Amino acid sequence: LDPKLPQYSTGDKTSFAWETARRRWPIIITQAIDDAYRSVAHCSDPAKRDEGKKIVEDLTRLKYEVQHDRVMTPIPDDGYPDVTTYNTELAQLGPNPTWLSSPWLYTECYLFRRISSSFALSTHWKNYDVFARQKIKTFRSSRPAVLELATHYKDLLSQMASAAKGSPPNLEAEQLLFQEMCEICLWGNATDLSLLTSLTYEDIQKLQGSEARKKAEQNILVNDLPAAFSHLISAKNAGKKERRVDIILDNAGFELFVDLILAGYLLSAGLATHVVLHPKSIPWFVSDVLVSDFASLLNALAAPRQFYETQSEEEELQGNVPEKLTEKQVEELFFLFQSWSQFHAEGQLMLRPNRVWTGPGSFWRLPNEAKDVVEDLKESELVIFKGDLNYRKLVGDAAWDATTPFTEAIGPLGPGSGLNILALRTCKADVVVGLKAGEDEKLKQTEGGGGDSGARKWAWNGKWAVVSFSKGS
Ligand code: F6P
Ligand code: MG
Repeated sequence: LDPKLPQYSTGDKTSFAWETARRRWPIIITQAIDDAYRSVAHCSDPAKRDEGKKIVEDLTRLKYEVQHDRVMTPIPDDGYPDVTTYNTELAQLGPNPTWLSSPWLYTECYLFRRISSSFALSTHWKNYDVFARQKIKTFRSSRPAVLELATHYKDLLSQMASAAKGSPPNLEAEQLLFQEMCEICLWGNATDLSLLTSLTYEDIQKLQGSEARKKAEQNILVNDLPAAFSHLISAKNAGKKERRVDIILDNAGFELFVDLILAGYLLSAGLATHVVLHPKSIPWFVSDVLVSDFASLLNALAAPRQFYETQSEEEELQGNVPEKLTEKQVEELFFLFQSWSQFHAEGQLMLRPNRVWTGPGSFWRLPNEAKDVVEDLKESELVIFKGDLNYRKLVGDAAWDATTPFTEAIGPLGPGSGLNILALRTCKADVVVGLKAGEDEKLKQTEGGGGDSGARKWAWNGKWAVVSFSKGS
């Protein structure tokens, strides 16, 4: 059950898949090798060290296979049932599918699943997250935006608390605030680490500040936030006691931070009574959230001085001393920690990992292959899908015409499915739907937009976004 249209392929020169597979994947694997190597070097247990060396060899071989366009081989049985799903699909790709001429979506998922199997097959490295160092480092470097938002969040909550006591609700103001919170959450996605192979930390910081966000509003090509807001408000006004919002998470660090800002806001504003977060179960697309990333984030906020002021190895080498935080900053970060851990402790904020989110295929398959997950999500007022990969999976990474309605492109998850879906996606791949007639053509004519080359280059760098809503009933 997938869209009938062809999917984007690593063999297609006009697709971002082409460059991704040839240039970006080798960098990503090299970074994983470096990380594993570093951990092996620090390892004092000989058995663990030997196993670690084997993993480094495995990853090095994997890089060779990608770069030399070798045939993709079945994933060895590492004890998890999704190996069969991956291998069955691999067999269906044809006799000898190779890395550089296969469906982009499958091949990229397969890459991360292969990396994870190297660790899963060991005894000492089973739960090792080969991308953890990168995730922490980038989160630390988003310090200015984190501090700015922490101030904003605390002011907002105290304003909401005093407004609740006084005047009647102002729907227009509430909607604007909802939009702002969702847009903060949306642009937090522009900064994922798999794109870091082409962006600098400076670019990232520029993308994260509030001024940048205002300017970026005109870059949201489809904006269904008003519809999503009125959907949540109707549920509230109908007097429904339990109103759940789910977030299918994307990246850790700054993006998870803004997801929590949104979650905390929805709970405090009474737009939801519960928020369920769905992290990944294996290290995924470099920067995606694992349960352990949630814990690291809370730890950083609980002890912000330790997190921000302790010199990293790199800073030590370069002689850089991190700037001290002010008392006020420490307090504001700690406030976030308290607010979120209280929601968590009281069961209003939950984490629900499931291996379905690290499968190889489109979400069109969920109603058949993950009935329990779909049933669970039907309980939710709104299921928010974050990020580029989740969007690609919603629409099957197929070559839709850009004017196809979103509700059509998500197939069996569309109207009638019982799922209320909101996609918050900055565009970092070829596929896009829901645009007005002529818009794609216009964007292609902008500088670097792809022109008449047949490539939709404007959609590759996270500069543009789409926010699409589909009501399940
Ligand atoms: O830049 C492309 C890419 O690597 C895609 O393969 C993938 O869809 C995306 O980045 C990951 O981005 P996100 O973290 O937003 O899902
Ligand atoms: Mg991601």
